[in-house]
Amino acid sequence: MKKVAILANGGDVSGFNAVIRGIVKTAENHGVECYGIIEGYTGLLENNYIRLDSYSNASGILYKGGSIIGSSTNANVFNYKSRRKGQEDEYVDLSDVCIENAKKDGFDCIFTLGGDGTQKSARDFYKKGLNVIGVPKTIDNDVACTDITFGYNTAVSVATEALDRLHSTGETHHRIMVLEVMGRYAGWIALESAIAGGGDVALIPEIPFDLNKVAKKIKERIEKGKRFSLVVVAEGAAPKGGKLLVKNVRDNGKGVDNTKLGGIGEKVAAELQELTGLEARNTTLGYMQRGGTPTAYDRVLSTKYGAKAMELALEGKFGVLTVLKNGKLDSVPLEDVVGENKEIGAVSGNTKESNLRRVTMDDDLVKTARNIGISLGD
Ligand code: F6P
Repeated sequence: MKKVAILANGGDVSGFNAVIRGIVKTAENHGVECYGIIEGYTGLLENNYIRLDSYSNASGILYKGGSIIGSSTNANVFNYKSRRKGQEDEYVDLSDVCIENAKKDGFDCIFTLGGDGTQKSARDFYKKGLNVIGVPKTIDNDVACTDITFGYNTAVSVATEALDRLHSTGETHHRIMVLEVMGRYAGWIALESAIAGGGDVALIPEIPFDLNKVAKKIKERIEKGKRFSLVVVAEGAAPKGGKLLVKNVRDNGKGVDNTKLGGIGEKVAAELQELTGLEARNTTLGYMQRGGTPTAYDRVLSTKYGAKAMELALEGKFGVLTVLKNGKLDSVPLEDVVGENKEIGAVSGNTKESNLRRVTMDDDLVKTARNIGISLGD
């Protein structure tokens, strides 16, 4: 093991840099050179990378948001959009170019920092002969086989702080304050921040909601003297029998999972105002949840993941994802992470074959929410 490379892929999270630092420091302690591939799989395709050094460019990055090596949100190199002037876009498999680049550059292992889609591509590269080790990232906390992804804790903290602030203004003006948080197919951020921030309602993608039930809860609160309520809505939550609110679809929906969600908070606020007679206001938290400094928890988790990933590389254990299982660092085959989505180059995301980790009804968070009277809209 002489040369390793790191790539960060997908939507950014707080903690990317902490993982990078963890890998670089562990690599250096074992005499291994570390490189950073610029902008995820795009950099692998374009053979664009830099040397990382914990005494220069990889120094002082632990607390910084973003990624010092960038990240790409639309680079599925197994199904890559190629633009040809005056002609229809074409989707081509360029994975062999990436493999040639990695081999030519002499990378003994590539660390893939990313969510479900990124790890799906990592698994495909492993099957095609590349040594890869995944590290589970995403604010949505929906990567299979691990208790938690890095970036999630920071997102929950940001959402909790937002709820604290909405609490005081909502109470002052006797309003329903709706907070739309991220979470495409999993409601972890909404549920956990609702518990942490004293929310009265949490609407999550896993439980189709009925706003009449939510209005009933808010009216009960009014009767008991609470003339305000806090409602947290995941962007992927939908009413019973209704559909997800999709803002737009990138790349004609081909390639990676490209639906851009948004708007459910506004809709819920307007309907609750009608149903309860209380004024309602929506705040969409958006990218605040992903930017900026990571929490102490995320710094530690990211460092643990980074160091563990490099340890696995030194052991020659490839084609795996570093995970946290019952509080202990471990690894699982990427094959298990992709679930039934086995085919090389298959689209990832919320397909019936994919293996996203969603909130289950027997989860302690669901039980706790119900026990303390948070309405889940069902
Ligand atoms: O998957 C992480 C995530 O932050 C989702 O919560 C959100 O729906 C999505 O990424 C937004 O992605 P983009 O950066 O493409 O707008």
